[in-house]
Parts: sequence; C-alpha cells; structure tokens
Amino acid sequence: MTDHKQTPKHVAIIMDGNGRWAQMRLRPRLVGHHAGAKRVREVVKACPELGVKYLTIFAFSTENWKRTQTEVAGLMKLFKRYIRREAQNLLEEGVRVRFIGDRVRLEPALVDLMDGLELLTADNDKVHLTIALNYGGRDEVARAARRLAHDVEMGKLNPRDVCDETFPKYLDTYVLPDPDLVIRTSGEARISNFLLWQSAYSEYEFIDTLWPDFTAEVFAEVVGRFGARERRFGAVPV
Ligand code: FPP
Repeated sequence: MTDHKQTPKHVAIIMDGNGRWAQMRLRPRLVGHHAGAKRVREVVKACPELGVKYLTIFAFSTENWKRTQTEVAGLMKLFKRYIRREAQNLLEEGVRVRFIGDRVRLEPALVDLMDGLELLTADNDKVHLTIALNYGGRDEVARAARRLAHDVEMGKLNPRDVCDETFPKYLDTYVLPDPDLVIRTSGEARISNFLLWQSAYSEYEFIDTLWPDFTAEVFAEVVGRFGARERRFGAVPV
C-alpha cells in the first residue's frame, strides 16, 4: 500500500519538450504533441495510486499563439480530439475536469467541448484535473484585478478588504489548493508564466525527460522525491 502522508496533494506540470522529441525522430512537431497527449492519459490515471488529488497541466499558454499557424491549428484540433475521446473514460475514472485560462480567444467549438466536459464530470471527486488552455499567470492576475475593480466599482467590495486572502478568490484557480509541487520537463529551468501567484511556496522539480517520455514510472519517482523535502513556508525549523 502506498504511503500518502508525504505525497503532494496538488501537482502542477509544465509539459515541455514535445517539439524536440519529434525533431529528434525527424518527425513534424505535432507528432510530439500527439505522443504527449498519450502521457497525459497515463499520468492522470496514475494519480489515485500516488495519492495525488489535484493535477494541473499547462497545455497552451497565452504566448503559444506565436507558433506557426499549422502548429496552433494542430494543437487546437488535438485538444478537441482529446476531449471527445477521453470524456467517457474521465467520467468513469472519477476525474473532475476544469479548464483555466482565457476562453475568449478560443474557437467556440472548443469552448463548447470544454464546457461540456466540465459539466459532465462536475460530480466527480477522485482526481481533480485542471487543464490550463490559453493560460498565462500575468494574464490571469490582470483579469482577476479587472474583476476585483469591477466589484469595488459596484460597491460589492471595500478596497480595505483587498488582501492576500481575498485576491485569490478572483483567480481562475479559486477552488483549488495551491500546488505543492511543480514539475517542468525537458531540462529548462523556467516557470514560463505558469501559476505565478499560486506557486509562491511550491517545490520545483526541473527534470531532463522530454514530456513524451514522461511515463507513469517517472511521475512516481518525482512524486516520491517530494517526500524527502522539508517545507518551511518561510518559518524556522523546530
Ligand atoms: C511544449 O512542448 C508543449 C506544448 C506547448 C503543448 C502541450 C500539449 C500537449 C502535451 C498535448 C496534449 C495535451 C492535452 C491536454 C491533451 P514544446 O512544443 O514547447 O516542445 P519544445 O520545447 O521541444 O519545442
């Protein structure tokens, strides 16, 4: 039986390296993204056994629109396919799916599928999967500030009550706990605008594995290392 005492409750992942994985095989970048989607399925499935209750994955950033039109269109198609194909499995496996990010720029057909999957899985509670799609940490904070300013304008919020407890209620992640562990694959040691507010006290793991090679075994190994870390949240150890 797995000991869940030392496992991170919320793991967030920056899934990087799909393009390089494909290029190493002399294949188009989209082949890497498709291989990456398979790992998403595997990693979600592995969560209950590892004691990971919340999994948040970075699928598409507000900066990713700068990629070629072919790659962007291919990714959007892949997200739609993933939702259509996986909806039933996710429902049966007890996974509750949420999406974070700005939906305004996404095509209506994709937004409909996202809304549908959120609704379909709304009663699930075994694993909470959050997919960041057209997400950027700064954009999220700016949108939150806009909503907060609106509430102040409407007289619903007193500016004196704005503090680090009220502000996160305006973030896309308002129902989620902060991530305990943030993993980035592919050897890059950057957070690239991911969960800027929420990861203030997260542990980070930057690993060399490219995302399409990130198996359930690698996931278990990284999650296992978390148990050895001492988290102090700014306090002095006693
Ligand atoms: C980063 O690799 C990856 C992405 C921008 C896309 C992430 C998407 C997936 C893993 C596909 C499946 C996701 C879901 C939710 C079904 P990169 O292209 O930046 O790789 P590189 O740094 O090697 O170029």
